[in-house]
Amino acid sequence: MTKMEFDRHRRLRQSASIRKMVRETKLDQDDFIYPIFVKEAGSEKTEVSSMPGVYQWPLTEVLQEVEEIVNLGIPSVILFGLPIEKDAVGSSAFHDHGIVQEATRIIKEAYPELTVIADTCLCQFTDHGHCGVIKGNDIDNDPSLQILAQTAISQAKAGADIIAPSNMMDGFVAVIRQGLDEAGFEHVPVMAYSVKYASAFYGPFRDAAHGAPSFGDRKTYQMDPANREEALREAQSDLNEGADFLIVKPALSYLDIIREVKDFSGVPLVAYNVSGEYAMVKAAALNGWINEREVVLEKLLSMKRAGADLILTYHAKDAVKWMKQSI
Ligand code: PBG
Ligand code: ZN
Repeated sequence: MTKMEFDRHRRLRQSASIRKMVRETKLDQDDFIYPIFVKEAGSEKTEVSSMPGVYQWPLTEVLQEVEEIVNLGIPSVILFGLPIEKDAVGSSAFHDHGIVQEATRIIKEAYPELTVIADTCLCQFTDHGHCGVIKGNDIDNDPSLQILAQTAISQAKAGADIIAPSNMMDGFVAVIRQGLDEAGFEHVPVMAYSVKYASAFYGPFRDAAHGAPSFGDRKTYQMDPANREEALREAQSDLNEGADFLIVKPALSYLDIIREVKDFSGVPLVAYNVSGEYAMVKAAALNGWINEREVVLEKLLSMKRAGADLILTYHAKDAVKWMKQSI
């Protein structure tokens, strides 16, 4: 009998050791960025109900959280601020003693080696909850830019290592870059939320950060989930304007976009594994419907395989603990 010809893929899967040898993608704790919500009001941490395990931290307590992150070996955090005062232009975003600025100072003083990324947006700081200033029912692009630049400068002054503007106004990277340079912060990188879709997956974050728009939606500034080519145009503009990192957000429904932006941009790419993606896993896990550890590690791995260099994720602490166990 002639031997049938076929490929034997299972040769490389037969033992854990061989599987490790041929594994193409690996998670690394250095790839994680952990989000922290810091709040001005109150003196105790509050759990976000739609995000079990995630807290809003008062300044007096936040170092507890940071210590855990540092001890786990996670190299960076991104700060989101919850101010007490909100107004039409988001003044508390660029106040030198604003919540993000103060948190940055406290964290950098205690842990100078930790990279602190400041999210630069206005939606948590405006009384209308939009990411820029408004004119009637519209978000007014150009007047928003100066406020963002001022916010970025005050964050850099407070010691932020990286500025991450998330508001999706046109020209935001250019104006922030110029503002930082003129203020003497040429060395501070910009991690731009370049490809940010108008996604329903941000729901829990808006509870966590009190940043839901009071009218309308964000569809005139965030991208249409249907669009792929537009993602490349957005990424191109931000590269032209001087972005050092690009963010694609959300991550899981947009793995195709992560791959394309990575292949085309040649700069470090960040996948933002957003709040709704986290909440869904947590809900299923709490019901005993999935194996949380396996599901989370598989999802994070898929983001890396798609081309992400870094992953901004609420799962980071758990993931690192699980990764350490599996060694
Ligand atoms: C606001 C902002 C949002 C997120 C990060 N920054 C929400 C939004 O655009 O409405 C979402 C993050 C998440 O869902 O985890 N600029
Ligand atoms: Zn915003």
